Amino acid sequence: MKHLALFISMATMTLTMQGKVKKPVYQDPKAPIEQRVEDLLGRMTLEEKVGQMNQLVGIAHFKENSATMSTADLSTNTANAFYPGVTVKDMEEWTKKGLVSSFLHVLTMEEANYLQRLNMQSRLRIPLIIGIDAIHGNAKCKDNTVYPTNIGLASSFDVDMAYTIARQTALEMRAMNMHWTFNPNVEVARDGRWGRCGETFGEDPYLVTRMGVATNRGYQRNLDSAEDVLGCVKHFVGGSQPINGTNGAPADLSERTLREVFFPSFKAALQQGGDWNVMMSHNELNGIPCHTNRWLMTDILRKEWGFKGFVVSDWMDIEHCVDQHRTATDHQEAFKQSILAGMDMHMHGPEWVRSVVELVKEGHISESRIDESVRRILTVKFRLGLFEQPYGDAKTRDKVINNPVHKQTALEAARNSIVLLKNEGNLLPLDMKKYKRVLVTGINANDQNIMGDWSELQPEEKVSTVLKGLRQIAPSTDFQFVDQGWDPRNMSQAKVDEAVEAAKSCDLNIVCCGEYMMRFRWNERTSGEDTDRDNLDLVGLQDQLIRRLNETGKPTVLIIISGRPLSVRYAAEHVPAIINAWEPGQFGGQAVAEILYGKVNPSAKLAMTIPRGVGQISTYYNHKKSAFFHPVVCGNSEPLYPFGFGLSYTTFAYSGLSLDKTKIKAGSNESVNATITIENTGTRDGVEICQLYINDVVASAARPVKELKDFKRVALKAGERKTITFEIPQEKLAFYDIDMKYGVEPGVFEVLVGGSSKDSDLKKATFEAVK
Ligand code: BGC
Repeated sequence: MKHLALFISMATMTLTMQGKVKKPVYQDPKAPIEQRVEDLLGRMTLEEKVGQMNQLVGIAHFKENSATMSTADLSTNTANAFYPGVTVKDMEEWTKKGLVSSFLHVLTMEEANYLQRLNMQSRLRIPLIIGIDAIHGNAKCKDNTVYPTNIGLASSFDVDMAYTIARQTALEMRAMNMHWTFNPNVEVARDGRWGRCGETFGEDPYLVTRMGVATNRGYQRNLDSAEDVLGCVKHFVGGSQPINGTNGAPADLSERTLREVFFPSFKAALQQGGDWNVMMSHNELNGIPCHTNRWLMTDILRKEWGFKGFVVSDWMDIEHCVDQHRTATDHQEAFKQSILAGMDMHMHGPEWVRSVVELVKEGHISESRIDESVRRILTVKFRLGLFEQPYGDAKTRDKVINNPVHKQTALEAARNSIVLLKNEGNLLPLDMKKYKRVLVTGINANDQNIMGDWSELQPEEKVSTVLKGLRQIAPSTDFQFVDQGWDPRNMSQAKVDEAVEAAKSCDLNIVCCGEYMMRFRWNERTSGEDTDRDNLDLVGLQDQLIRRLNETGKPTVLIIISGRPLSVRYAAEHVPAIINAWEPGQFGGQAVAEILYGKVNPSAKLAMTIPRGVGQISTYYNHKKSAFFHPVVCGNSEPLYPFGFGLSYTTFAYSGLSLDKTKIKAGSNESVNATITIENTGTRDGVEICQLYINDVVASAARPVKELKDFKRVALKAGERKTITFEIPQEKLAFYDIDMKYGVEPGVFEVLVGGSSKDSDLKKATFEAVK
């Protein structure tokens, strides 16, 4: 075997005129990447080329699921797979022949190295690129750092933190010999029923854009070193506003809405974060599946935005053109449609290579079209330094993953992502002397679920649950824990009764409610990918638990752990203190406890509106002006808590909003500076997230009531004042006019600055753009 490999690699060498053996250009790290790509492409067979467009699930994943899944499960499951009729040996042989470009769902460095070693037996030794959903840290892998999920990170409005987390994740991934993360998710989440809100940066296009750019740039930088990983800007597009709130359901969105709301974050994350990879979205968009959508993949991405990276399909979604969208009769036809529309790599499955090779041989797809895709994929592999460094080593891995610096970042990020929604009578921070015996209960009181979707179980000692955090931060308090189990759907009435009984002898209640997201219990979850709801209420007996504890008359604090907004109406009205912790990650419990006991002053603001109920899913703050012309009857048109809202233990006063100009010339490069003073009027140091919104008062096409256009995290000591300035360049005023032309229309603009998107929290000034 060894001899054969040697012979093969010798065959790739070229003899010089002098008879000396010279390495092929593509193996020369000093040669320009374009030359390496062309040299390699010129040596490849059609099968090897199509193999570069081919991805499979990892072998351990395959083995595990072959044993536990049925063929029927495969058609609906988008997280687990095996290939009926295929053996591990088949997968290994394909890899050795260079017919696999990438594996996903490989969870250990050992497996990544193993697959790479097999692959290095192939004729041309083109390294594998290992992909993984490192959505909030490389959390699917044991012992890697688990940061808060994107919705919490967005609620910190901390763009630098997003960059830092992405960098640290890249280092941990490379140490695990993993090279491609399927993040950032830059979808604008507009429907809380959709289980994936937690992996997005929320409902606002500008905030999503800022976080998406920072994250993608953090992963990739220039994508030119062995410390970078490939980011994946996903899912293109519209799946975050599915018609019935369920994952993968059709989206029907006008071109105006796409361009105003959904496209900007994709365009910016690519153009400013590094345009190397995009994943298409499960759904059909305006009747055409995204995976065969030429308008999206070719006209918008390539021609309009000049995208130069490669497009990857989402999990078996090309195949879903056959069984879901019904726009192709068989997989081969769907593959053809998809490639001709602009697809470059297939996630994932064993049919691709044979089927696509046949399509080329029969003349349905040109080989030059295949070459285009292969060029894009090879370019990324060269840039990542995979040819030079295809393996990982245990020593580096153990030094890098979950190291003290990364842990500190995860803790800091958790502290900054937790939103204080209500604090009646200043119940918080808790008085340790007053509340000596404290009841702790609820499904999320002591469970790894605090880490959120996209993380697997981690060693117990690495995860700080709320109960652990409380015991760490308030060691002299007597915490009485009544376990409600992890499963909101199957709570026990006896356990709820037990908690209510226990409350009688306690001074205070801490109830940790919310959703269940852990992936290893795929079918039992209530939130996360493919886990959508038809309402936003608390599942099971949780509402009863909160109500009955509150009715004991003991002060009650509600902690919500969830990736989606939950309509906690009863608590909003009756429970004195509410904390929305989102999915705060590995150190979530410690951060919650530090906030409860005032060691940390909360600063986060909601990245997504919390509606009163499911009927209010469209109360995102940047709705059009006529949206509530007729308010609802028998109810309230205002959401429970609006976008941008969050309390602190101190108070902030805004004053003196002023603009340096009252008139600018529309379409020129003149900008306006808005200046405002913020004062910390309370007795504690704090951080205020100051938000700037713009309202285009009258326009040729209907505009939102306001749109976030800038923000700053401002740290203020007790009693301190700071004057801050925002620059408003004209691109922040531009929109698609009545003729879909992008630009600034003459007219009056309102500048709104303050501590939330609520009108009453905003100071207002106006200027005019004149002809
Ligand atoms: C999800 C993607 C993910 C992929 C691989 C799909 O089901 O939609 O976001 O990257 O699986 O895990």
